[in-house]
Amino acid sequence: MRILFLTRSFNGLAQRLFLELRALGHEVAVEFDIADDVSTEAVALYRPELVIAPFLRRAIPESIWRHHVCLVVHPGIVGDRGPSALDWAISEGVAEWGVTVLQAEAELDAGPVWAAEVFAMRDATKSSLYRMEVTDAAVIAVLAAVRRYAETGLPLPASAGQQRSHWRPLMPQAQRRIDWQRDDTDTVLRKIRAADGQPGVLDQLSGIPCHLFDAHREDRPAWPCSPGTWFGRRHESLLRATVDGAVRIGHLRRADGQGHFKLPATLALAEQAALLPECGPADGAATHGSWHEIRSESDGDVAVLHFAFYNGAISTVQCERLRAALRHTLAQRPRVLVLFGGPDFWCNGIHLNVIEAAASPADESWRNIVAMDDLTLALIEATECLVIAAMQGNAGAGGVFMALAADLLWARPGVVLNPHYKNMGNLYGSEYWTYLLPRRPRSPCAAEVMGRRLPISAHQAQAMGLIDEVFGSSAAAFRAEALARARGWATAGGLQRRLHAKQQQRLRDEATKPLAAYRDEELAHMRRNFYGFDPSYHIARSNFVHRVPASWTPRHLAVHRDAPQAAAIHAVRQVDGDQA
Ligand code: COA
Repeated sequence: MRILFLTRSFNGLAQRLFLELRALGHEVAVEFDIADDVSTEAVALYRPELVIAPFLRRAIPESIWRHHVCLVVHPGIVGDRGPSALDWAISEGVAEWGVTVLQAEAELDAGPVWAAEVFAMRDATKSSLYRMEVTDAAVIAVLAAVRRYAETGLPLPASAGQQRSHWRPLMPQAQRRIDWQRDDTDTVLRKIRAADGQPGVLDQLSGIPCHLFDAHREDRPAWPCSPGTWFGRRHESLLRATVDGAVRIGHLRRADGQGHFKLPATLALAEQAALLPECGPADGAATHGSWHEIRSESDGDVAVLHFAFYNGAISTVQCERLRAALRHTLAQRPRVLVLFGGPDFWCNGIHLNVIEAAASPADESWRNIVAMDDLTLALIEATECLVIAAMQGNAGAGGVFMALAADLLWARPGVVLNPHYKNMGNLYGSEYWTYLLPRRPRSPCAAEVMGRRLPISAHQAQAMGLIDEVFGSSAAAFRAEALARARGWATAGGLQRRLHAKQQQRLRDEATKPLAAYRDEELAHMRRNFYGFDPSYHIARSNFVHRVPASWTPRHLAVHRDAPQAAAIHAVRQVDGDQA
């Protein structure tokens, strides 16, 4: 089928649907929702059999939905309507939620239902639920709706749930406000999670208004502290007392005009943070009670490292902390090391927001990429054990190449990779990719991986030779099976032979061309990206961090704009314009 996506951006959900539909043989083109006449033009150019809106914030123009079936993905159960569906569901602590695919009509979210899917809620942020449960449910529901459209052309019969439908407004900040004198830790966490990734919960520190994100349960302070007191910092987070414990706030967005994007909390409010005592553990891989960004576990001969960096972005200091944790873990001499990344993202490369906030973004970009290279090098040089990158979440840019430093790459079926650096202002990339990509057993074509700007599904990545195994029906099942497989490797008779072969191969590779040479060549390109005359990377990064809305759809997505009929339609418009 010929399907047009009308979407605000090509976000994770849109990418996953795009990949799933294409894998079934459908043709999919994408148009960003920029202006009504641009969307109308896209429909005229592509002449789709079906329009799908994976992620929209505005109504589809009547001129489109009157003449085409338009299916809207709503992240709510049947009957739920409005723009803050998940926010309300998390705030109200519902046990089950869902995704509904409905047909666009005059009234928002009120059209006929084509498919719906439900899932169990989890204690997680809105964006985590969106990336995992909502995305998985949306895939099932959209594929069912497309099948239904092809087979019957008719929506589901109206259900009782639909008849009870009601509109819930955009959740206001007044509703999200935390009462630090009354709200217990669970309530505080729920309020912040319901607003994370956007818009955050408006609060303040020393009178400075700021939005709170990235909240986790924290140990109570060892000294008396009244509820609401900011009492310390742990790494880049700030700690705040609640009525019955404490929370850690990892990221803030100032709301006083002094910065408009999210930053690690101690960077967003550096002066205020400097006055608070450091409560961090000396070792990055602490294992005690409260939440830790980097967490190590060991199970006999299998060591596990979790690194749940917010949004998968890894700053210079985080690279250094992870490298220290890796050193500490390898010192225990495990036979197998499993790198789980975080629950939402494995890794998305250098921390673009921290770079944007630096006095010299070029210098901070350089420091960050050097730290990423050091980390990747430590993984390549871990030749005494079998290293496994186990991706429960998506990975982007340098994060993908860091994973290639492992001996084995495993992923959950829903994982989406964006290995290309090109989308970030034509970055050349580093992380030893020029060494790591060709050394894969079924060496994928470097031009295909680096040159294409489209996402890759886990199964596609496996077919291309980027990933070794894809398994697990859910994130939890994936983790459990990955651990079981890792234990199998640790006790397998052939492991010692494999490790010996790995060490010999590394020595041969080093003799052929030292790793330092790969690194120097890559970094020479990166130096030009950061300090050269072409500012593309700095512009792309700034647009990304400041969330500048797209003013056009990239050509690799808007394929309808390259088709011969595009030229014909433009010619007709030109004639019409001239005559007018
Ligand atoms: N640095 C800082 N923040 C990052 C980041 C990075 N490298 N990668 C992702 N994020 C943030 C986004 O800003 C967004 O923030 P929000 O919580 O404020 O909304 C969040 O992570 C989710 O990203 P989003 O782009 O909405 O997710 P997606 O699933 O649609 O797309 C990527 C995933 C990886 C394709 C996309 O985030 C991306 O291109 N990231 C940049 C990768 C990169 O170029 N890294 C630098 C080179 S190594």
